[in-house]
Amino acid sequence: MALSEAVIVDQLARLHTTCLPHSAVGRLGAGYARSFYRFARRSPVEIVLVEVHDDEVIAGCTVSLSPATLGKRMVLHTALPFYALIRPFAFPWDTVLADAFGAPKLASASPSHKDVTPELVYIFTRPGERGAGHGRRLIDKIDDQLSQRGFERYIVHTFDDPKDPAVRFYQRCGMTITGRSRPHGMWFLVLERRLNIPGEQSIE
Ligand SMILES: CC(C)(COP(=O)(O)OP(=O)(O)OC[C@H]1O[C@@H](n2cnc3c(N)ncnc32)[C@H](O)[C@@H]1OP(=O)(O)O)[C@@H](O)C(=O)NCCC(=O)NCCS
Repeated sequence: MALSEAVIVDQLARLHTTCLPHSAVGRLGAGYARSFYRFARRSPVEIVLVEVHDDEVIAGCTVSLSPATLGKRMVLHTALPFYALIRPFAFPWDTVLADAFGAPKLASASPSHKDVTPELVYIFTRPGERGAGHGRRLIDKIDDQLSQRGFERYIVHTFDDPKDPAVRFYQRCGMTITGRSRPHGMWFLVLERRLNIPGEQSIE
């Protein structure tokens, strides 16, 4: 039985807050995460993918084709302003203000412009299901979707912490560290995934 959109959004939101409680979305709780996923699942410039097993969402990811405008669009199209009022101490002011009103992180081109580099914003697998290949399958699906759209690469930011297991995961999935950035007071590693465009020969 296929899960309804409302159930997918609800399960994604709960899984996100469990797996990434310190992320900008996770800090505001499952109520805000539902608002975020309702927006992201309908957005023409976000790709939200899930792995479902036995009618349960067990892994999910969000890619933005326009990461430089995501913060501003979250302010405009999700319940973020409401949560700024009711949960000011949990509100991710640093991230949201930097994203919404700061300099664009990568490019200011329109979302349809292929020079914009897509960004894998979130990826997570339910704790009891980790190590079984769900994360890698999501990465494979992201690769397919982005290369079909003509993108040659995408990036991901992750905490610059040698103990952060996400770095090993990304490297095992074919990403390479290309630099460090400090978008809002904290250091992040930037990893890049290069894609083969269908019909074009790889030069590697
Ligand atoms: C990172 C995460 C998404 C990995 O998901 P997963 O479903 O366990 O990953 P997979 O089973 O598909 O693993 C893919 C590869 O990464 C490796 N890997 C996964 N987790 C790893 C870890 N903690 N340490 C080292 N390698 C790891 C696997 O060994 C596998 O490599 P292999 O196929 O060459 O053996 C998951 O651990 C998670 O949800 N973490 C918490 C949320 C998070 O940190 N997300 C990333 C930041 S947004």
